[in-house]
Amino acid sequence: MRILLTSGPTRQYIDPVRYISNASSGRMGCCLAEAFLELGHEVVIVSGPVAIEYPSAAKIVQVVSTEEMLAAAAEEFLNCHGMVGVAAPCDYRPVVIAENKIKKSGDRIQIELVETPDVVASLGTSKRDDQWTVGFALETEDAHFRAITKLHRKNCDLVVLNGVSAIDSAVTSIEVFDPAGKIVLSSAGTKSKIAELIAKQIQTLLIDQRPEKEDQ
Ligand code: C5P
Repeated sequence: MRILLTSGPTRQYIDPVRYISNASSGRMGCCLAEAFLELGHEVVIVSGPVAIEYPSAAKIVQVVSTEEMLAAAAEEFLNCHGMVGVAAPCDYRPVVIAENKIKKSGDRIQIELVETPDVVASLGTSKRDDQWTVGFALETEDAHFRAITKLHRKNCDLVVLNGVSAIDSAVTSIEVFDPAGKIVLSSAGTKSKIAELIAKQIQTLLIDQRPEKEDQ
């Protein structure tokens, strides 16, 4: 099987040198790539700018903005059986990117932001019957309810809920929900161990149980 991962943060430029981003390291994407490769799958990673090194056996497509991530992921997804959205794409972008570096004037400035497209939702709502999508959810309140709502809104087959402590950290704690709202996996530990468990759960629930698997 060929599996697509979106990973890392994206950047939305304000002017030629400044951008909005977040602290996502790409580490969970890297660990999931290793876990899927270990299970014998092909892996394509569409990643925003990260300092970590992805496994050399994976195909890496580098992008900068959320719009670029969506365009690259949509193209790669055509040739993949499933995708896991581990990335933390910026949800907003400046309406205007200043052509030149914005100079200090002593006054306040305002930057108007608009929403960027949602990569997981776009792929989830346009996927073929033989394709599956898994989203991540990072919630600080009403976590279970919000994660399941997100699964349905983005038409995911599973959603992985993790806490804020997961960002830019080597450890994480997760719960995986199915569309019925059932917790199918709950664990804490290193991202590498958690990625193995998530990959195995995806293998069991989304890959092995598919009738189309003989073609894949
Ligand atoms: O809505 P929220 O950002 O909390 O959902 C997180 C999930 O959605 C993650 O799987 C993330 O990769 C994905 N996402 C996305 N594109 C965005 C925002 C989030 O694919 N613009």
